[in-house]
Amino acid sequence: AIERTFSILKPDATRRNLTGKINAIYEENGLSIIGQKRILMSETQAKAFYAVHAARPFYKDLVEFMISGPVVVQVLEGENAVTKHRDLMGATNPANAAEGTVRKLFAESIEANSVHGSDSAENAAIEIAYFFAGCELVG
Ligand code: CMP
Repeated sequence: AIERTFSILKPDATRRNLTGKINAIYEENGLSIIGQKRILMSETQAKAFYAVHAARPFYKDLVEFMISGPVVVQVLEGENAVTKHRDLMGATNPANAAEGTVRKLFAESIEANSVHGSDSAENAAIEIAYFFAGCELVG
């Protein structure tokens, strides 16, 4: 089915001017960018976005990293978008990511891993609504 998923190009990706290369991988694989904006997340936004990880030892560093520079938040649309996007990103830890995936190609570390993607359609809807108004999504 045609789905939507939420994507972030993280500060390590914007810092190295990788947004075009990563977007090309998504577009070449059938994901359309139907909403996109470059923002500097506030600490409040980053903490709330990653609230599910609040008890994890990496939470504080993760929030600091996510506000350390601009990010590009996106909504991707396409056939099986959630799973397709996760397959294109590769494993969270680039050391475990398959050849040709975004994280294998570009990630610097498990924290500076270049991209985020929703892990389910349910979370995609929540994450999309957190960063985008409906009128900003043009399919
Ligand atoms: P993301 O998909 O954005 O979701 C949570 C993020 O926490 C993850 O990508 C990583 O960038 C970051 N992170 C840092 N350390 C870890 C870790 N040990 N395990 C999982 N995620 C981590």
